[in-house]
Amino acid sequence: MFKNKIKNIPKHIGIIMDGNGRWATLQGLSRNMGHKEGINAVDRTINALIKFGVKVVSFFAFSTENWKRSEEEVNGIFNLTRDFLHSKRNNFKERGVRITTIGELSPFPEDLKKELDKTKEDTKNNDKLIVNLALNYGGRADIVRAVNNLIDKGATKVTEQDILENLYTGELPEPDFVIRTSGEERISNFMLYQMAYSELYFPKVLWPNFNERHLRKALKVYSKRNRRYGGIK
Ligand code: FPP
Repeated sequence: MFKNKIKNIPKHIGIIMDGNGRWATLQGLSRNMGHKEGINAVDRTINALIKFGVKVVSFFAFSTENWKRSEEEVNGIFNLTRDFLHSKRNNFKERGVRITTIGELSPFPEDLKKELDKTKEDTKNNDKLIVNLALNYGGRADIVRAVNNLIDKGATKVTEQDILENLYTGELPEPDFVIRTSGEERISNFMLYQMAYSELYFPKVLWPNFNERHLRKALKVYSKRNRRYGGIK
């Protein structure tokens, strides 16, 4: 069968989608057109991930640092995300996609929050692929929030497991593999705690150009990695 051609398919992949702005500049388009094409790449990648049998994907869609961008760009990303969720909601159900989020959603516009709530609710019983959107997410803020949650619950000492369970990712497995496109080799405050033993991969392709072929190559690279978790193989 097609998906069995590659061994050791990671259960959870994190994707730092970088290069939308550069892609747009190269085409002589606005940055928001780059994000629009970036969303098309998200949808394409969802299909490819299902095909390869990946169970969870976390997309870094909006970081706690992205508020520094122009109002026009920030609003553009919000509107594109809202419209994407709205137009694809039924299609997510058909594909067995469950949408979840990590990050602090409260500062987002009401229309986007409503769309997120409805999409999460409508897709909560789907189990083919969890598409976890990191929105207003920062890895450090995630750890601080987890510790504060534990303090609120009365903890005076915490364990690694306590923190892990109180992160936004809660029940989700830790990412086995994290891909950042566009050739930049940084983590940029993505899932810091959860990525302790993740395999990292930095292909040159700009995110809007990412397709099934790039994913297949990435999965082949992952299948050859030798994960030791600090031990000896
Ligand atoms: C990085 O490219 C991309 C972002 C900061 C935003 C990406 C967001 C989307 C594609 C929308 C995602 C929405 C969903 C629903 C998953 P960049 O702008 O930093 O590119 P550059 O480094 O080339 O300027």
